[in-house]
Amino acid sequence: MTSLSDAPLLRAARGEPVPHTPVWFMRQAGRSLPEYLAIREGVGMLEACMDPALVTEITLQPVRRYGVDAAIFFSDIVLPLKAVGVDLDIKPGVGPVVAQPVRTLADVEAIPDLDPSHVPFITEAVRSLVGELGATPLIGFAGAPFTVASYLVEGGPSKDQARTKAMMFGAPDVWDALMRKIAGMAAAYLEVQVDAGASAVQLFDSWAGSLTPEDYRAHVMPHSAAVLERAGRLGVPRIHFGVGTSELLADMGEAGADVVGVDFRTPLAEAIGKVGDRSVQGNLDPALVFAPTEVMLERAARVLDAGRTARGHIFNLGHGVIPTTDPDQLARLTDFVHAYEPEG
Ligand code: CP3
Repeated sequence: MTSLSDAPLLRAARGEPVPHTPVWFMRQAGRSLPEYLAIREGVGMLEACMDPALVTEITLQPVRRYGVDAAIFFSDIVLPLKAVGVDLDIKPGVGPVVAQPVRTLADVEAIPDLDPSHVPFITEAVRSLVGELGATPLIGFAGAPFTVASYLVEGGPSKDQARTKAMMFGAPDVWDALMRKIAGMAAAYLEVQVDAGASAVQLFDSWAGSLTPEDYRAHVMPHSAAVLERAGRLGVPRIHFGVGTSELLADMGEAGADVVGVDFRTPLAEAIGKVGDRSVQGNLDPALVFAPTEVMLERAARVLDAGRTARGHIFNLGHGVIPTTDPDQLARLTDFVHAYEPEG
């Protein structure tokens, strides 16, 4: 039995040789698993996130089923907001909905800073998980300032982030205060998870791809960098992921990532060229899991071949598991990645 610090996921994140390419799937826990649907019956999403026994069980479900190289902590990017008292809910099929959207400096100042005492159930869940997982790493996570701000400002999911950008362009003082508030919260949330035993962290900036590189650098990157800088002091690898971020990959790396998550729209070889001496994570199109198995595996092989030129590669989908995914396909994909031997 190898030790946790030698786990393939952590070795790949540090750019060290690995016995096989490590693999896990964003949103591996969740609606694609019948055992998840069963255990969630009659339990609200946020309620589930605040119940350590449920969080432990749901987080372990995909690890048991697939034998993936990491568990991702079952929670949500808006959980820290809920924990400090922001009135929000996660609506099935919709996502996070905020009762009173944030628009003014007073609105920002009314949000308390996160303290570990707000989230004792997170500490408890992480401790219990780490005990169960043994040599399998637990990835802790937080939402990045821009993506979390978009839910707070829009009041819910948005295609164009228009109100969020209106604040960014038109009320720089409010924007700055909001981004600092969320950055502090994200860093504190990651600290709680790592202090309790998480051995890597992922910062999700899912909607950063809606920004131009110039605006990303000016209005967003410094705040994500602040989170990653604080996370860096914890001594665990930092993964930084966004969707549609082809033009931002170099900056997302420079913000302080050890591993840059790559969305499926960017060819992995191109992404590797952009991130320089950092590891990459990704990037099979999650829809390929719906293709015939041999087609899926052939495309996975191409991702694995491209990944070999990186400092380190963690195989993943290029975004989360689609809820209607057949878990048996993910099982075959995991086995394939573990057994893959490149030709030549
Ligand atoms: O397995 C995992 O990846 C860990 C759990 C996890 C969830 N949300 C569980 C969840 C993680 C890492 C997240 C992060 C998250 N939440 C992100 C960033 C990741 C990404 O996909 O880009 C974002 C943007 C959110 C906000 C959010 N929460 C959305 C868009 C949704 C989906 C809405 C829907 O129903 O289609 C949620 C709800 C949510 N978070 C679910 C799960 C399993 C579904 C709720 C349910 O099962 O009832």
